[in-house]
Amino acid sequence: MARILLGVTGGIAAYKAVELVRLATKAGHAVRVFQTPASLHFVGKATFEGVTGAPVLVHELEPDPSRGAFPGAEPPHHDPISHLELVRRSDVYVIAPASANTLAKLAGGHADNMVTTAALACTAPLVLAPAMNNHMWTHPATQTSVETLLRRGATVIGPDAGELASRGEWGAGRLAEPAAILAAAESALEAPGRFRPRSLDGLRVLVTAGGTREPIDAVRYVGNRSSGRMGVALAAEASRRGAEVTLIAANVSLDPPEGVRWIDVETAAELERAARAEFPGADVLLMAAAVSDFRPAEAGSGKIEKHGREGLAIETEATVDVLGALSEIRRPGQTLVGFAAEHGEGGLVRAREKLERKGLDAVVLNDISRADIGFDSRDNEVTILTGVREASVPRRPKSEVAAAVLDEVEALRAEKVRLRP
Ligand SMILES: Cc1cc2nc3c(=O)[nH]c(=O)nc-3n(C[C@H](O)[C@H](O)[C@H](O)COP(=O)(O)O)c2cc1C
Repeated sequence: MARILLGVTGGIAAYKAVELVRLATKAGHAVRVFQTPASLHFVGKATFEGVTGAPVLVHELEPDPSRGAFPGAEPPHHDPISHLELVRRSDVYVIAPASANTLAKLAGGHADNMVTTAALACTAPLVLAPAMNNHMWTHPATQTSVETLLRRGATVIGPDAGELASRGEWGAGRLAEPAAILAAAESALEAPGRFRPRSLDGLRVLVTAGGTREPIDAVRYVGNRSSGRMGVALAAEASRRGAEVTLIAANVSLDPPEGVRWIDVETAAELERAARAEFPGADVLLMAAAVSDFRPAEAGSGKIEKHGREGLAIETEATVDVLGALSEIRRPGQTLVGFAAEHGEGGLVRAREKLERKGLDAVVLNDISRADIGFDSRDNEVTILTGVREASVPRRPKSEVAAAVLDEVEALRAEKVRLRP
Protein backbone atom coordinates (compact mmCIF):
# COMPACT_ATOMS: atom_id res chain seq x y z
CA MET A 1 0.00 0.00 0.00
CA ALA A 2 1.30 3.44 -0.89
CA ARG A 3 0.33 6.95 0.11
CA ILE A 4 -0.56 8.77 -3.06
CA LEU A 5 -0.85 12.54 -3.07
CA LEU A 6 -2.94 13.66 -6.03
CA GLY A 7 -2.87 17.19 -7.40
CA VAL A 8 -5.79 18.10 -9.62
CA THR A 9 -5.58 21.13 -11.92
CA GLY A 10 -8.11 23.01 -14.04
CA GLY A 11 -9.23 21.14 -17.12
CA ILE A 12 -12.22 19.20 -18.33
CA ALA A 13 -10.37 15.91 -17.73
CA ALA A 14 -10.46 16.64 -13.97
CA TYR A 15 -13.51 14.39 -13.77
CA LYS A 16 -11.30 11.46 -14.81
CA ALA A 17 -9.15 12.04 -11.70
CA VAL A 18 -12.14 10.82 -9.70
CA GLU A 19 -11.85 7.47 -11.47
CA LEU A 20 -8.10 7.46 -10.76
CA VAL A 21 -8.79 7.88 -7.03
CA ARG A 22 -11.39 5.12 -7.15
CA LEU A 23 -8.95 2.70 -8.79
CA ALA A 24 -6.13 3.63 -6.41
CA THR A 25 -8.21 3.14 -3.26
CA LYS A 26 -9.58 -0.12 -4.66
CA ALA A 27 -5.96 -1.27 -5.12
CA GLY A 28 -5.38 -0.60 -1.40
CA HIS A 29 -3.57 2.77 -1.64
CA ALA A 30 -4.37 5.72 0.62
CA VAL A 31 -5.06 8.91 -1.34
CA ARG A 32 -5.18 12.59 -0.38
CA VAL A 33 -6.09 15.31 -2.88
CA PHE A 34 -4.90 18.89 -3.44
CA GLN A 35 -6.85 20.97 -5.96
CA THR A 36 -5.95 24.19 -7.71
CA PRO A 37 -8.58 26.94 -7.39
CA ALA A 38 -9.18 26.65 -11.17
CA SER A 39 -9.94 22.94 -10.89
CA LEU A 40 -12.89 23.70 -8.59
CA HIS A 41 -14.75 24.99 -11.66
CA PHE A 42 -14.59 21.47 -13.08
CA VAL A 43 -14.96 19.10 -10.08
CA GLY A 44 -15.89 20.14 -6.54
CA LYS A 45 -14.05 19.21 -3.37
CA ALA A 46 -17.00 17.15 -2.16
CA THR A 47 -16.52 14.58 -4.91
CA PHE A 48 -12.87 13.93 -4.06
CA GLU A 49 -13.64 14.02 -0.34
CA GLY A 50 -16.29 11.40 -0.92
CA VAL A 51 -14.04 9.01 -2.84
CA THR A 52 -10.91 9.46 -0.69
CA GLY A 53 -12.68 9.67 2.66
CA ALA A 54 -10.38 12.60 3.59
CA PRO A 55 -10.45 16.39 3.36
CA VAL A 56 -9.32 18.10 0.15
CA LEU A 57 -7.02 21.10 0.48
CA VAL A 58 -7.01 24.04 -1.93
CA HIS A 59 -5.55 27.02 -0.09
CA GLU A 60 -2.19 26.95 1.61
CA LEU A 61 -3.43 28.70 4.73
CA GLU A 62 -6.42 26.46 5.36
CA PRO A 63 -5.78 24.01 8.20
CA ASP A 64 -5.96 20.32 7.41
CA PRO A 65 -8.60 18.67 9.64
CA SER A 66 -6.60 15.41 9.30
CA ARG A 67 -3.35 17.16 10.38
CA GLY A 68 -1.44 15.76 7.43
CA ALA A 69 -2.49 12.13 7.89
CA PHE A 70 -3.47 9.85 5.06
CA PRO A 71 -6.61 7.73 5.48
CA GLY A 72 -5.86 4.85 7.86
CA ALA A 73 -2.75 6.50 9.39
CA GLU A 74 -2.33 8.03 12.83
CA PRO A 75 -2.27 11.86 12.76
CA PRO A 76 0.78 13.55 14.30
CA HIS A 77 0.57 14.85 17.84
CA HIS A 78 1.19 18.44 16.78
CA ASP A 79 -0.66 20.73 14.41
CA PRO A 80 1.58 20.78 11.37
CA ILE A 81 1.77 23.09 8.38
CA SER A 82 -0.75 21.11 6.40
CA HIS A 83 0.71 21.00 2.93
CA LEU A 84 4.21 20.23 4.12
CA GLU A 85 3.08 17.45 6.45
CA LEU A 86 1.05 15.72 3.75
CA VAL A 87 3.85 16.13 1.25
CA ARG A 88 6.36 14.69 3.72
CA ARG A 89 4.19 11.66 4.24
CA SER A 90 3.49 10.89 0.60
CA ASP A 91 5.21 8.07 -1.24
CA VAL A 92 4.40 9.48 -4.67
CA TYR A 93 2.95 12.76 -5.95
CA VAL A 94 0.72 12.48 -9.00
CA ILE A 95 -0.65 15.54 -10.80
CA ALA A 96 -3.56 14.50 -13.01
CA PRO A 97 -4.71 16.21 -15.05
CA ALA A 98 -1.70 18.51 -15.28
CA SER A 99 -2.71 21.68 -17.13
CA ALA A 100 -0.38 23.59 -19.48
CA ASN A 101 -0.41 26.40 -16.94
CA THR A 102 0.67 24.15 -14.06
CA LEU A 103 3.36 22.42 -16.16
CA ALA A 104 4.84 25.84 -16.98
CA LYS A 105 4.75 26.85 -13.33
CA LEU A 106 6.40 23.61 -12.22
CA ALA A 107 9.15 24.04 -14.80
CA GLY A 108 9.71 27.59 -13.56
CA GLY A 109 9.70 26.57 -9.90
CA HIS A 110 6.63 28.62 -9.01
CA ALA A 111 4.91 27.95 -5.71
CA ASP A 112 1.69 29.97 -5.79
CA ASN A 113 -0.89 27.38 -4.78
CA MET A 114 -1.10 24.08 -2.93
CA VAL A 115 -0.41 21.93 -6.01
CA THR A 116 2.68 23.82 -7.14
CA THR A 117 4.08 24.43 -3.65
CA ALA A 118 3.76 20.74 -2.86
CA ALA A 119 5.68 19.86 -6.00
CA LEU A 120 8.61 21.97 -4.84
CA ALA A 121 8.55 20.63 -1.31
CA CYS A 122 8.13 17.01 -2.36
CA THR A 123 11.04 14.56 -2.38
CA ALA A 124 8.89 11.61 -3.45
CA PRO A 125 8.67 10.66 -7.14
CA LEU A 126 6.59 13.08 -9.22
CA VAL A 127 4.23 11.69 -11.87
CA LEU A 128 2.60 14.11 -14.30
CA ALA A 129 -0.37 13.30 -16.51
CA PRO A 130 -0.86 16.26 -18.87
CA ALA A 131 -4.22 16.91 -20.54
CA MET A 132 -5.07 19.83 -22.79
CA ASN A 133 -6.03 21.02 -26.22
CA ASN A 134 -3.68 19.58 -28.90
CA HIS A 135 -2.29 23.01 -29.88
CA MET A 136 -1.58 23.79 -26.24
CA TRP A 137 0.26 20.47 -25.94
CA THR A 138 2.41 20.90 -29.05
CA HIS A 139 3.19 24.53 -28.30
CA PRO A 140 6.96 24.97 -27.79
CA ALA A 141 6.35 26.56 -24.40
CA THR A 142 4.58 23.44 -23.12
CA GLN A 143 7.09 21.09 -24.75
CA THR A 144 9.98 23.00 -23.15
CA SER A 145 8.28 22.76 -19.74
CA VAL A 146 7.83 19.01 -20.15
CA GLU A 147 11.45 18.51 -21.25
CA THR A 148 12.65 20.43 -18.19
CA LEU A 149 10.49 18.36 -15.87
CA LEU A 150 11.61 15.08 -17.48
CA ARG A 151 15.24 16.14 -17.08
CA ARG A 152 14.61 16.70 -13.39
CA GLY A 153 13.37 13.12 -13.00
CA ALA A 154 9.59 13.49 -13.27
CA THR A 155 7.63 10.71 -14.92
CA VAL A 156 5.29 11.97 -17.65
CA ILE A 157 2.45 9.69 -18.65
CA GLY A 158 0.54 10.60 -21.81
CA PRO A 159 -1.14 12.53 -23.14
CA ASP A 160 -2.84 10.13 -25.51
CA ALA A 161 -4.00 11.03 -29.00
CA GLY A 162 -7.67 10.84 -29.85
CA GLU A 163 -10.90 12.61 -29.19
CA LEU A 164 -10.34 15.42 -26.67
CA ALA A 165 -12.61 16.36 -23.83
CA SER A 166 -13.78 19.58 -25.51
CA ARG A 167 -16.51 18.94 -28.03
CA GLY A 168 -15.33 18.36 -31.58
CA GLU A 169 -11.61 18.48 -30.74
CA TRP A 170 -9.18 15.78 -31.81
CA GLY A 171 -5.42 15.25 -31.46
CA ALA A 172 -2.69 14.73 -28.86
CA GLY A 173 -3.73 16.06 -25.48
CA ARG A 174 -6.15 13.53 -24.09
CA LEU A 175 -5.50 12.48 -20.47
CA ALA A 176 -3.92 9.02 -20.21
CA GLU A 177 -6.30 6.35 -18.98
CA PRO A 178 -6.65 6.40 -15.16
CA ALA A 179 -5.45 2.76 -14.96
CA ALA A 180 -2.29 3.70 -16.90
CA ILE A 181 -1.68 6.69 -14.60
CA LEU A 182 -2.02 4.45 -11.56
CA ALA A 183 0.40 1.92 -13.10
CA ALA A 184 2.90 4.75 -13.75
CA ALA A 185 2.58 5.88 -10.12
CA GLU A 186 3.11 2.34 -8.87
CA SER A 187 6.20 1.80 -10.99
CA ALA A 188 7.62 5.17 -9.93
CA LEU A 189 7.33 3.88 -6.37
CA GLU A 190 9.28 0.80 -7.22
CA ALA A 191 12.21 2.64 -8.81
CA PRO A 192 15.27 1.63 -6.76
CA GLY A 193 15.95 3.95 -3.87
CA ARG A 194 12.87 6.07 -4.50
CA PHE A 195 10.37 4.47 -2.15
CA ARG A 196 10.66 5.55 1.44
CA PRO A 197 8.20 3.71 3.64
CA ARG A 198 6.53 5.99 6.14
CA SER A 199 4.93 3.26 8.15
CA LEU A 200 5.63 4.85 11.57
CA ASP A 201 4.22 8.26 10.71
CA GLY A 202 2.58 9.96 13.66
CA LEU A 203 4.22 7.67 16.22
CA ARG A 204 6.55 8.83 18.97
CA VAL A 205 9.34 6.37 19.56
CA LEU A 206 11.60 6.49 22.60
CA VAL A 207 14.89 4.60 22.32
CA THR A 208 17.57 4.07 24.95
CA ALA A 209 21.08 3.22 23.83
CA GLY A 210 24.60 2.70 25.14
CA GLY A 211 25.81 1.60 28.54
CA THR A 212 25.58 3.43 31.84
CA ARG A 213 28.64 4.29 33.95
CA GLU A 214 28.41 4.19 37.74
CA PRO A 215 31.07 6.24 39.48
CA ILE A 216 33.50 4.63 41.92
CA ASP A 217 35.20 7.95 42.47
CA ALA A 218 35.70 11.15 40.49
CA VAL A 219 37.58 9.37 37.68
CA ARG A 220 36.73 5.64 37.78
CA TYR A 221 33.49 3.93 37.04
CA VAL A 222 31.77 0.56 36.73
CA GLY A 223 30.56 0.25 33.14
CA ASN A 224 29.89 -2.17 30.36
CA ARG A 225 30.94 -2.68 26.76
CA SER A 226 27.80 -1.44 25.04
CA SER A 227 28.68 1.03 22.27
CA GLY A 228 25.10 2.15 21.59
CA ARG A 229 25.24 0.97 17.94
CA MET A 230 22.08 -1.13 18.20
CA GLY A 231 20.06 1.66 19.82
CA VAL A 232 21.32 4.25 17.35
CA ALA A 233 20.41 1.92 14.45
CA LEU A 234 16.91 1.54 15.91
CA ALA A 235 16.52 5.31 16.27
CA ALA A 236 17.71 5.88 12.70
CA GLU A 237 15.36 3.26 11.26
CA ALA A 238 12.35 4.53 13.26
CA SER A 239 13.08 8.07 12.08
CA ARG A 240 13.44 6.87 8.47
CA ARG A 241 9.99 5.30 8.80
CA GLY A 242 8.53 8.65 9.81
CA ALA A 243 8.41 8.41 13.63
CA GLU A 244 9.26 11.30 15.97
CA VAL A 245 12.24 9.76 17.73
CA THR A 246 13.91 10.59 21.04
CA LEU A 247 17.12 8.78 21.91
CA ILE A 248 18.40 8.63 25.46
CA ALA A 249 22.08 7.94 24.94
CA ALA A 250 24.21 6.60 27.77
CA ASN A 251 27.84 7.39 26.93
CA VAL A 252 27.41 6.97 23.20
CA SER A 253 30.08 8.48 20.98
CA LEU A 254 28.38 7.86 17.62
CA ASP A 255 26.93 10.45 15.27
CA PRO A 256 23.27 11.29 15.98
CA PRO A 257 20.97 10.06 13.19
CA GLU A 258 19.23 12.81 11.21
CA GLY A 259 16.05 14.13 12.77
CA VAL A 260 16.48 12.29 16.08
CA ARG A 261 16.21 14.18 19.39
CA TRP A 262 19.24 13.19 21.46
CA ILE A 263 19.48 13.26 25.27
CA ASP A 264 22.86 12.46 26.83
CA VAL A 265 22.99 10.63 30.16
CA GLU A 266 25.75 8.93 32.09
CA THR A 267 24.45 6.90 35.02
CA ALA A 268 21.53 4.52 35.53
CA ALA A 269 19.87 7.13 37.76
CA GLU A 270 20.15 9.80 35.02
CA LEU A 271 18.82 7.37 32.44
CA GLU A 272 15.91 6.53 34.73
CA ARG A 273 15.09 10.23 35.24
CA ALA A 274 15.17 10.96 31.50
CA ALA A 275 13.17 7.84 30.63
CA ARG A 276 10.49 8.62 33.24
CA ALA A 277 10.15 12.13 31.80
CA GLU A 278 9.92 10.99 28.16
CA PHE A 279 8.01 7.72 28.49
CA PRO A 280 4.48 9.11 29.09
CA GLY A 281 4.60 10.87 25.70
CA ALA A 282 5.91 7.86 23.78
CA ASP A 283 3.92 5.30 21.81
CA VAL A 284 6.81 2.86 21.54
CA LEU A 285 9.72 2.22 23.91
CA LEU A 286 12.79 0.39 22.63
CA MET A 287 14.96 -0.23 25.67
CA ALA A 288 18.27 -1.13 24.04
CA ALA A 289 20.57 0.49 26.61
CA ALA A 290 22.67 -1.73 28.87
CA VAL A 291 21.77 -0.31 32.26
CA SER A 292 24.05 -1.31 35.13
CA ASP A 293 22.34 -3.66 37.56
CA PHE A 294 24.64 -2.54 40.38
CA ARG A 295 26.47 0.62 41.34
CA PRO A 296 29.04 1.44 44.01
CA ALA A 297 27.11 2.15 47.20
CA GLU A 298 29.23 5.22 47.87
CA ALA A 299 31.13 7.06 45.20
CA GLY A 300 34.20 8.90 46.42
CA SER A 301 34.25 12.60 45.56
CA GLY A 302 37.96 12.76 44.77
CA LYS A 303 40.33 10.16 43.33
CA ILE A 304 40.90 7.15 45.58
CA GLU A 305 44.64 6.97 46.04
CA LYS A 306 46.52 3.76 45.20
CA HIS A 307 49.30 4.55 47.63
CA GLY A 308 49.33 2.18 50.63
CA ARG A 309 46.50 -0.06 49.32
CA GLU A 310 46.73 -3.77 48.58
CA GLY A 311 43.44 -3.72 46.70
CA LEU A 312 40.10 -2.00 46.59
CA ALA A 313 36.88 -3.61 47.76
CA ILE A 314 33.85 -1.91 46.29
CA GLU A 315 30.51 -2.39 47.93
CA THR A 316 27.67 -2.20 45.47
CA GLU A 317 23.91 -1.77 45.60
CA ALA A 318 21.23 -2.61 43.05
CA THR A 319 20.08 0.11 40.65
CA VAL A 320 16.44 0.63 39.77
CA ASP A 321 15.00 -1.72 37.14
CA VAL A 322 14.10 1.08 34.70
CA LEU A 323 12.18 -1.06 32.23
CA GLY A 324 10.21 -2.79 35.00
CA ALA A 325 9.37 0.62 36.53
CA LEU A 326 8.19 2.02 33.19
CA SER A 327 6.14 -1.09 32.51
CA GLU A 328 4.25 -0.47 35.76
CA ILE A 329 3.16 3.01 34.64
CA ARG A 330 2.46 2.13 31.01
CA ARG A 331 -0.80 3.29 29.48
CA PRO A 332 -2.92 1.38 26.97
CA GLY A 333 -1.62 1.72 23.44
CA GLN A 334 2.07 1.80 24.38
CA THR A 335 4.38 -0.87 22.96
CA LEU A 336 7.32 -1.90 25.13
CA VAL A 337 10.33 -3.76 23.77
CA GLY A 338 13.12 -4.96 26.05
CA PHE A 339 16.56 -6.26 25.13
CA ALA A 340 18.14 -9.24 26.80
CA ALA A 341 21.89 -9.70 26.61
CA GLU A 342 22.21 -13.33 27.68
CA HIS A 343 25.30 -15.44 28.00
CA GLY A 344 25.16 -18.89 26.38
CA GLU A 345 22.66 -21.63 27.01
CA GLY A 346 19.33 -21.01 28.69
CA GLY A 347 19.17 -17.49 27.24
CA LEU A 348 15.89 -18.13 25.50
CA VAL A 349 14.21 -19.32 28.69
CA ARG A 350 15.53 -16.32 30.64
CA ALA A 351 14.44 -13.91 27.89
CA ARG A 352 10.92 -15.35 27.85
CA GLU A 353 10.80 -15.09 31.62
CA LYS A 354 11.82 -11.39 31.30
CA LEU A 355 9.06 -10.84 28.72
CA GLU A 356 6.43 -12.20 31.09
CA ARG A 357 7.78 -10.83 34.38
CA LYS A 358 8.06 -7.28 33.04
CA GLY A 359 4.83 -7.39 31.02
CA LEU A 360 6.61 -6.50 27.75
CA ASP A 361 5.32 -6.81 24.20
CA ALA A 362 8.61 -8.15 22.87
CA VAL A 363 12.11 -9.02 23.96
CA VAL A 364 15.09 -8.95 21.62
CA LEU A 365 17.58 -11.56 22.74
CA ASN A 366 21.23 -11.61 21.81
CA ASP A 367 23.89 -14.03 22.89
CA ILE A 368 26.78 -12.02 24.33
CA SER A 369 28.98 -15.11 24.68
CA ARG A 370 29.80 -14.70 20.97
CA ALA A 371 32.59 -12.29 20.05
CA ASP A 372 31.43 -11.79 16.44
CA ILE A 373 28.08 -10.23 17.32
CA GLY A 374 26.55 -8.04 20.02
CA PHE A 375 28.59 -5.54 22.05
CA ASP A 376 30.52 -3.03 19.99
CA SER A 377 30.36 -5.05 16.77
CA ARG A 378 28.86 -3.99 13.46
CA ASP A 379 26.64 -7.06 13.24
CA ASN A 380 24.11 -8.66 15.46
CA GLU A 381 22.12 -11.86 15.48
CA VAL A 382 18.99 -11.90 17.59
CA THR A 383 15.83 -13.75 18.43
CA ILE A 384 12.71 -11.61 18.77
CA LEU A 385 10.27 -13.05 21.26
CA THR A 386 6.67 -11.94 21.66
CA GLY A 387 3.75 -13.50 23.49
CA VAL A 388 2.84 -15.46 20.37
CA ARG A 389 5.95 -15.61 18.17
CA GLU A 390 9.64 -16.33 18.19
CA ALA A 391 11.59 -15.09 15.16
CA SER A 392 15.30 -15.67 14.55
CA VAL A 393 17.11 -12.88 12.75
CA PRO A 394 20.38 -14.37 11.41
CA ARG A 395 23.66 -12.46 11.61
CA ARG A 396 23.43 -9.19 9.69
CA PRO A 397 24.32 -5.49 10.08
CA LYS A 398 22.65 -3.80 13.05
CA SER A 399 20.75 -1.51 10.66
CA GLU A 400 18.99 -4.59 9.22
CA VAL A 401 18.38 -6.06 12.66
CA ALA A 402 16.80 -2.71 13.60
CA ALA A 403 14.49 -3.00 10.59
CA ALA A 404 13.44 -6.51 11.69
CA VAL A 405 12.70 -5.25 15.23
CA LEU A 406 10.60 -2.38 13.87
CA ASP A 407 8.75 -4.75 11.52
CA GLU A 408 7.80 -6.71 14.65
CA VAL A 409 6.72 -3.51 16.44
CA GLU A 410 4.51 -2.64 13.46
CA ALA A 411 3.02 -6.15 13.43
CA LEU A 412 2.29 -5.98 17.17
CA ARG A 413 0.60 -2.58 16.83
CA ALA A 414 -1.44 -3.69 13.82
CA GLU A 415 -2.64 -6.74 15.77
CA LYS A 416 -3.71 -4.52 18.67
CA VAL A 417 -5.67 -2.24 16.32
CA ARG A 418 -7.45 -5.28 14.85
CA LEU A 419 -8.32 -6.52 18.34
CA ARG A 420 -9.89 -3.19 19.37
CA PRO A 421 -13.68 -3.53 19.69
C1 LIG B 1 -13.80 24.90 -20.24
C2 LIG B 1 -12.32 24.98 -20.00
C3 LIG B 1 -11.55 23.87 -20.21
C4 LIG B 1 -10.17 23.92 -20.01
N1 LIG B 1 -9.44 22.79 -20.20
C5 LIG B 1 -8.11 22.84 -20.07
C6 LIG B 1 -7.33 21.66 -20.27
O1 LIG B 1 -7.83 20.59 -20.56
N2 LIG B 1 -6.00 21.76 -20.11
C7 LIG B 1 -5.38 22.92 -19.77
O2 LIG B 1 -4.17 22.95 -19.70
N3 LIG B 1 -6.12 24.05 -19.55
C8 LIG B 1 -7.45 24.01 -19.68
N4 LIG B 1 -8.19 25.15 -19.46
C9 LIG B 1 -7.49 26.36 -19.02
C10 LIG B 1 -7.13 26.30 -17.53
O3 LIG B 1 -8.29 26.08 -16.77
C11 LIG B 1 -6.42 27.55 -17.14
O4 LIG B 1 -5.19 27.65 -17.82
C12 LIG B 1 -6.20 27.64 -15.65
O5 LIG B 1 -5.52 28.85 -15.37
C13 LIG B 1 -5.42 26.48 -15.13
O6 LIG B 1 -5.10 26.71 -13.79
P1 LIG B 1 -4.36 25.62 -12.90
O7 LIG B 1 -3.21 25.12 -13.68
O8 LIG B 1 -3.93 26.39 -11.68
O9 LIG B 1 -5.36 24.59 -12.54
C14 LIG B 1 -9.57 25.12 -19.63
C15 LIG B 1 -10.36 26.24 -19.42
C16 LIG B 1 -11.71 26.19 -19.61
C17 LIG B 1 -12.54 27.42 -19.37
